[in-house]
Amino acid sequence: MEKGIRIADLFGTESGFVGKKVVVQGWVRTKRDSKAGISFIELNDGSCLRSLQVIAGLERPEYAEVLPKITTGSSLLVEGELTSSPGKGQSVELQADRIQLYGWADPAVYPLQKKRHSFEFLRQIAHLRPRTNTLGAAARVRNRMSFGLHRFFQERGFHYINTPIITASDCEGAGEIFRVTTLDPAQPPADGNPYESDFFARPAFLTVSGQLQAEIYALALGLVYTFGPTFRAENSNTSRHLAEFWMVEPEMAFYDLEDNLRLAQDCIKEMARIMLNECAEDLEFFARFIEPEVRSRLETVAESPFEIVPYTDAVDILKKSGEKFAFPVEWGGDLQAEHERYLTEKVFKRPVGLINFPRSLKPFYMRVNDDEKTVAAMDILVPGTGEIIGGSQREERLDVLLEQMKIKGISPDDYKWYVELREFGSVPHSGFGLGLERLVQFVTGIPNIREVIPFPRTPGHAEF
Ligand code: 4AD
Ligand code: MG
Repeated sequence: MEKGIRIADLFGTESGFVGKKVVVQGWVRTKRDSKAGISFIELNDGSCLRSLQVIAGLERPEYAEVLPKITTGSSLLVEGELTSSPGKGQSVELQADRIQLYGWADPAVYPLQKKRHSFEFLRQIAHLRPRTNTLGAAARVRNRMSFGLHRFFQERGFHYINTPIITASDCEGAGEIFRVTTLDPAQPPADGNPYESDFFARPAFLTVSGQLQAEIYALALGLVYTFGPTFRAENSNTSRHLAEFWMVEPEMAFYDLEDNLRLAQDCIKEMARIMLNECAEDLEFFARFIEPEVRSRLETVAESPFEIVPYTDAVDILKKSGEKFAFPVEWGGDLQAEHERYLTEKVFKRPVGLINFPRSLKPFYMRVNDDEKTVAAMDILVPGTGEIIGGSQREERLDVLLEQMKIKGISPDDYKWYVELREFGSVPHSGFGLGLERLVQFVTGIPNIREVIPFPRTPGHAEF
């Protein structure tokens, strides 16, 4: 198979390809025929946002057959000389002297014609939508963020571990778990233990978080992170919730809440810098067409220290704000997206680390503070997105952990291994979870989370 050069490598003066013969391969975005007998083809290969302008003179006899067949969506190989372009908006163009059509796309039915399509429509054609500017850019940024997260943790001596996707525990205790079973719902086992004949011979679920297992490895390797898909049967149809999403979860031995906050802050700042410095072309596109404030938000996050606010103070601020919220605020209640965004966008105008939440609001594993009313939890809120990180210092004291489990109705027998970590060489430790999709939403300004993951799973939707 002939291999072309990626179009991203052809742009820029340093490319050194000007005046040289090159081969490119990609998909046609548009084709325009001039009266002077020249075809202009915008070819995109997904390596970058920009398409390469291909110029083909109709006078060549061998083009007479192929050029009329080239339609939006067709796939091509083009060979020719790369020249600097006099036209506006492009630095180079390709003077074609060989064009090969791989696959035709019938313009009568190919859905991606040159116009703006709604995101709702594009979701129905998730097999074609990565060929659009927005979805292509989102996919490239998602790749950069994933790689950037690995780099961030690897550079700091963290070990990448893989925690299980099928698990027996419900880490967050919210009961929003998908069951994993091979039993036929049409033929349930007659009586007795319904799990006896099931695959794992016990209840099993898709993980909501790899944290509990990551703690095991943190208490052996010191600094670890897990990065994988997580699942929540959360019946909330919002623009920031998915039933399947990806989460990076660092877990650190000998870290208290303050160390945890510092690491989370460094991580978010680094991701903002990566977007500003390494995704410039895609960022420019998002700022122009999706969210005008995205760049200034990223700059604010990259430059300013985060505001650390205890939950109790945040509740006071919200109550005194005079703002009409759809959900009223009371101490002891969960903060809603509207409250989170008000704090970070209106009050502090920068990222906020909310700490020390009511004990009753948070899962059993969080460390109980000396006031015995709150736990050492932290949520990081960013402008535009709201909560992007949830984390905490973990309860390392055996007696307090057992008491917490009792209050939350969790049987220590079901979490024997977790309890034993507090019996054998327990140490203070902390960690957090950063949702990859929320991160990509934040750095791109894409309003709906369904556009930052290739195949979104939400209530009632699991196509593709
Ligand atoms: O705040 P959460 O629920 O925290 C945990 O799961 C901890 N066990 C993490 C840890 O300490 N290791 O979730 C963490 C982050 C959220 O801040 C958000 O970014 C993302 O995961 N998230 C979701 N993203 C998309 N769709 C959902 N339904 C999400 N739920 C959480
Ligand atoms: Mg949370």
